[in-house]
Amino acid sequence: MLMFRQTQARKSILVKIPSLSSAFNVKMTCSYYGNVVNTVSYASKDMAFLLVEYSTENEIIKLKETIRYQSREYLCAVTPLYSYKDLPQTVKLRGGQLQKSYACSAFVAPTEKEMVKKLEETNSISEQMILLYNVLKLPDFNIRLRFYTAEQISFYLSRLFTNISVLPFGSSVNGFGQLGCDLDLLCQIDRVKQSKSDSLSFLTQTLSLNEKNEKKVFLETIGTLMKVFVPGVTNMRKILEARVPIIKFFNTYTNMQCDLSSSNVLASIMSQLLYTYAEFDWCVKPLVCTIRNWARNRSLTKDEPGQWITNFSLTLLIIFYLQTKYIVPCLGTLQDVARHNTSKLQAVNQQPKNEILYQLLYGFFEYYSIFDFKTQAICIQEGCPRQKKSYAPLYIYNPLESTLNVSRNVTTIQLTQLIDNFRNGLHIMLSVKEEDILMCLLNLKKTPEMCNNTPSIQISQKESLNQEMFTEQRNANIL
Ligand code: CTP
Ligand code: MG
Repeated sequence: MLMFRQTQARKSILVKIPSLSSAFNVKMTCSYYGNVVNTVSYASKDMAFLLVEYSTENEIIKLKETIRYQSREYLCAVTPLYSYKDLPQTVKLRGGQLQKSYACSAFVAPTEKEMVKKLEETNSISEQMILLYNVLKLPDFNIRLRFYTAEQISFYLSRLFTNISVLPFGSSVNGFGQLGCDLDLLCQIDRVKQSKSDSLSFLTQTLSLNEKNEKKVFLETIGTLMKVFVPGVTNMRKILEARVPIIKFFNTYTNMQCDLSSSNVLASIMSQLLYTYAEFDWCVKPLVCTIRNWARNRSLTKDEPGQWITNFSLTLLIIFYLQTKYIVPCLGTLQDVARHNTSKLQAVNQQPKNEILYQLLYGFFEYYSIFDFKTQAICIQEGCPRQKKSYAPLYIYNPLESTLNVSRNVTTIQLTQLIDNFRNGLHIMLSVKEEDILMCLLNLKKTPEMCNNTPSIQISQKESLNQEMFTEQRNANIL
């Protein structure tokens, strides 16, 4: 997927156009330079753009050799962004078809009112969860723009350094991205091949990006360069003292909030791991989407980092729960499969998957309402709880680095609030009419008074509710 999207980005150019109505003219102009296979026009702030995909990278190489820089008197920084101007002699072409055109609103999630309207059209909670996921997931043009944004910086930096590439990671690529999510970017150093027979080579400075101070120097420098020279880069903020130093900026042309970090290979592998889990079963993405939105609308997660659980940790909690239900395998099994032993994976796949989404949502709330957070930790590697290694209130073993706790930022107060909300979620699911459950969970509809009190059901660790008891209990509560 990464390679496909990266190649697609390398075969594309982004053209700033006078207005959405000139998109067809621009497409025709672009066709002079090669075979255009796809176009998407969109508005961002008060500007309009056309993303043009050619059939091969060669056409882009030729195009770059042909076209000139806009200005003679200013510095012409290397940029893969193009500008189109209607010339007086240009014949206005009308009536042509463009593939798709998007307004600014296509970049953001629907308003609460629009969401309620959509959800009210379906009655079952499972259908509503799938609808929520479909409405919020990143559409194809948004993914194209994310990879183009990465390619733009990659291209810019490649003119300064010969062995650097910029890759998206995190929710833009792991299958859990939603409209408006940030674009996490990673600078990766491609090792330069050296031959023993090379007696003459270029002299280089010894900055390696493996050490924190060197990362800071690198990000500080390229941050300043990008702020001054890369078109569309605004609101640059350098957060260099954090555990993982990053530079934050907004790309006004592609409408993306970007976080650029340097050389963090594990984060990229983690994205691949989450992607694998997201693809494993159809129910993973709608379930994660619902729980992420539930947590956001109940202020359990926030945009800025702090003492609260992050979307990433929350996703690991969900994957772990799905492991306990044999919906997805534990990491150890995946590693076995990678070593060509597929028998175990088939065993997992053969488990009946008749649990529908609302049961899983209910099961998730139930599982963590009674989880022994005091002594037990979440372990994705083994797929079952493991002893905690520290007194951190919430302990999630980092699947790729077992000495680290992914959620060590979470305080006791935040964990208590989280557990209260799991219980409240469980209670809403037992006491509200099915068609209203999701809206109540997402705070889009007021929860009936009784649901804000302590759950009336007795939750016991041994005796978890089965489907029959679940329906019975809910009906009794509604009555
Ligand atoms: N990551 C990690 N270890 C952590 C935190 C983050 O490996 N302790 C990696 C994960 O691959 C994560 C990515 O960094 O997906 C980006 O982190 P973040 O932006 O916080 O999470 P996202 O998954 O991108 O979710 P969001 O939509 O909230 O940005
Ligand atoms: Mg992110």
